[in-house]
Amino acid sequence: MSDITTVLNKKYFDFNDIVTLLSIEDEIHMQKIFNKSLEVKTKTIGRNVYLRGLIEYSNICRKNCLYCGIRKDNSNVNRYTLTHDEVMEAVRYTYKNGLGSIVIQSGELLGKTFIDIIEEYVKEIHSTYPELLITLSCGEQSLEVYRRWYDAGARRYLLRIESSDKILYYKIHPHDQYHSFETRKKVLNDLRTTCYQVGTGVMIGLPDQTVEHLAKDLIFFRDLDVDMIGMGPFIEHSETPLYDRRSDLWPLKKRFEKSLLMIAILRIMMPTINIAASTALASIDSQGRQKGLLAGANVVMPNVTPFYKKVNYRLYENKPGLYLNESQNLKTIHDGIKDYGEHICYNDPGIPLHYKNNNF
Ligand code: 5AD
Ligand code: SF4
Repeated sequence: MSDITTVLNKKYFDFNDIVTLLSIEDEIHMQKIFNKSLEVKTKTIGRNVYLRGLIEYSNICRKNCLYCGIRKDNSNVNRYTLTHDEVMEAVRYTYKNGLGSIVIQSGELLGKTFIDIIEEYVKEIHSTYPELLITLSCGEQSLEVYRRWYDAGARRYLLRIESSDKILYYKIHPHDQYHSFETRKKVLNDLRTTCYQVGTGVMIGLPDQTVEHLAKDLIFFRDLDVDMIGMGPFIEHSETPLYDRRSDLWPLKKRFEKSLLMIAILRIMMPTINIAASTALASIDSQGRQKGLLAGANVVMPNVTPFYKKVNYRLYENKPGLYLNESQNLKTIHDGIKDYGEHICYNDPGIPLHYKNNNF
């Protein structure tokens, strides 16, 4: 298929090029794409892997995303919010182990109490560990709130678009005031006007999703000119409405392969951004993160939530490392990566070259 080589040698991929690459199913041609992506990564940002400690602060959420295990209407979930000591211990652990950034992720809550608490944590973490870069993933908020959190010391914000196609978006979210595609896009655009390093992403292998949808997602990332991407396979959860569509899903292997292809094509399109090898990859394949890195990713996010709490933060089933404690979890990740020719950068926030180039 000389087509692929021709496409891979292009300077700029259009929609049809991306569809061509994403449609590839045979190992040999997929490997060509991974090789090209690894070559691009090696030349531009090097084979450096940055680590982030992920704190799952609270599984209380006001939303009802149809795919997510901690959606508001799932009454089987034991709801928790980490205590101050648990948060600060996780931060201390992150810092002590040289992970360059701490990510505070939470179910989406609005309201003064939540906003104030996050602001207080950001201030405390920033003053206690000034070198630790603070990343937030706390859902859709107003521009004013994002600015307050930035002023408190946060520097990165992650908010996945989930799907850039409006019709598909409404197939995976209820159609109501809490789940508006227009708001999601507006909030991401708001974030782009701030000084945050901005990350977004999608799930891969959703019911009714096609390679055309995925190609559109990649173009959406390029148009938004984001600094970071986290994307991974959709994994059905039995306590969610989308579980009813499980017989329509791509097999797990295909969802996994398409996720690697998405990473690889994006790395070629946007060589200087940060791309995470998502945890969901590791829930399908024990070598999932490593394969993600070889496909072009450069970020891994070990979970530093106390293990007795994180069992309740189950967005999808078969989440890896759920019953390991933090240090077992970190060691598994560390040992898993170092044999793959990647260099783990400790004590380095790994600011995306893309952001540096645009802002300095
Ligand atoms: N499968 C895979 N990823 C999921 N997420 C939520 N539910 C699932 C699922 N069932 C992802 C969403 C969200 C991120 C925190 O986790 O993309 O933005
Ligand atoms: Fe809440 Fe996020 Fe789950 Fe949606 S994906 S229900 S916003 S935690």
